[in-house]
Amino acid sequence: MWKGRFQTDTSNLVQRYGESISYDWRLYAYDIEGSIAHAAALQDAGIINKTEERAIVRGLREIKQEIEGGQFRFKTSLEDIHMNIESALTEKIGAPGAKLHTARSRNDQVALDVRLYCRAESRAIFGRLEDMQSALLTLAVNHPDAVVPGYTHLQRGQPVLFAHHLLAYLEMLERDKERIRDGFKRINVMPLGSGALAGSTIPLNRNLVAQKLDFPAITQNSMDAISDRDFVAELLFDISMIGVHLSRLSEDVILWASAEFGFIELSDAHTTGSSLMPQKKNPDVAELTRGKTGRLIGNLMTLLTTIKGLPMTYNRDLQEDKEPLFDSVDQIKLALEVFAEMMAVAKIKEERTLSATSDPFLLATDLADYLVLKGVPFRDAHEIIGKLTAHSITEKRGFAEFGLDEYQQYSKKFEGDVYRVLDIQTALKARKAVGAPSPANVGRQITKWQKRFAASKGL
Ligand code: ARG
Repeated sequence: MWKGRFQTDTSNLVQRYGESISYDWRLYAYDIEGSIAHAAALQDAGIINKTEERAIVRGLREIKQEIEGGQFRFKTSLEDIHMNIESALTEKIGAPGAKLHTARSRNDQVALDVRLYCRAESRAIFGRLEDMQSALLTLAVNHPDAVVPGYTHLQRGQPVLFAHHLLAYLEMLERDKERIRDGFKRINVMPLGSGALAGSTIPLNRNLVAQKLDFPAITQNSMDAISDRDFVAELLFDISMIGVHLSRLSEDVILWASAEFGFIELSDAHTTGSSLMPQKKNPDVAELTRGKTGRLIGNLMTLLTTIKGLPMTYNRDLQEDKEPLFDSVDQIKLALEVFAEMMAVAKIKEERTLSATSDPFLLATDLADYLVLKGVPFRDAHEIIGKLTAHSITEKRGFAEFGLDEYQQYSKKFEGDVYRVLDIQTALKARKAVGAPSPANVGRQITKWQKRFAASKGL
C-alpha cells in the first residue's frame, strides 16, 4: 500500500509482529459498511461516478459474502482488515477500487470501525444485562416468601426477604445499564473525514456519511477524532463494573451453595463434578465469573496504560486497543448469558433459609427499637439488649424463652407486648420505609421491575 517510497519489502518478522488481521478481521462488516457510506460521499463530491460507486458497493458486498462463507483468504502481508478488504476490492473491480481510499486514512477508518463495533456491542450487552435482571427477578418471584438472614461482615445481622437480597442486584445491574446508555452517546459520533489527522483537501459531506451510518453527530476536531479511544476505555470500565457486580453475586452464590449455608441448589446443568471426589457438585460458573473479572479489570488497565503516554495524534500503539476490547466484550456477554440461565432455574432451599433466620439474635435490633418506642434513648436501649444477649448466651436460651420478669430485670419498660416483636413476619412488616424489605415494599418493587422490562425497548 505504500510501495512508492520503499525499495525493499517489509521483513517477515515485522509483518508477523505488526499484523492485526488475526483479530481485527472481526471488524469486516463495519469496515464494509463504512466504505459503502464513504463511497456515497465520494460520489456526492464528484470523485467517482454512479457506475463506479455501484461497482464498489457490489464488490464490497461480494467480499462480505466471501468472508461469511469462509472463502476469503486473509493475508498477513496486508496487515489489517482495512488493507485486506481494499486490496481484494481492487483485485475484483479494478480502478474504482483504487479510488475508494480517497480522502480517507486507516486512522479515521479504524476509528469508525471501532465505534461501530462498540455501538453494536453496547446494545448487545445492554440486552443481556436486562435478561440477567429478568432471571434474578424470576428467582425472586419463584420464592416470594423466602426469608434469609441479611449479613454485614458476613455475620448474621437482620432478617430480610430473599427477594430483597436479589433485587439489590437488579439495582446494580440497572446502574450498569445506565452507564452503557450514557457511554453510548460518546461512542455514537462519526469520525470519518478526519483523514490521517488533518482532514482532507477534498471536501466530503461528512453529514451525509453520518446519516448513512445512522450517527446523530460528527466529530469536531480531526486530531482528537483519530486518536480518541476514551469511549473504548469507558466501555471497558463499564464492562469491568458489570464483572465486579457479577463477581460479588458469584461470591454469594458460592457461599449459598456450600453445605455450611445450603441456601441454594444449582441445577446439574450449571455445576460440575470432581474427577476424584464423587460427592462433589461445584459452582464453577460462579468461580469462573469471579476469576474472569480480574481479566476484565486487566483489560481496562491495558488500554489506559496504552493511551496514557501517547503524543498527538495516531500512534501505532493504538492498534493494541482491540484485543482487550474484543476479549472483554466476548467474556462479559458469555458471563451474563450463562449466569442468567443458571439463576433462572436455581432452587432456594427454604427450609434452610428459614432455619438460619430463626436465629433469635437477628431480632436484637428490633428489641432495641421496641424500647426506643417506649421512650428509652437508643444508646441505652442498645446497651440493655447487649446485656440481654450476653444473658441469653450464658443461659443458652433464646429471647422468646425469657419470662417477662426476666426482661424487667434489664428494663422496667418491657411489657407483655414484647413477645409480639419476636416474630420474623412482624419484624419484616415493620420495615416499611422506602427501600426497606417489608413484604409490601418488595411486592411493589417486583411489580415495578416486571412493568419496566415489559416496556423496555433496549438501547
Ligand atoms: N491496524 C491499525 C490499527 O488498528 C489501523 C490503523 C493503521 N494506521 C497507521 N497509520 N498505520 O490501529
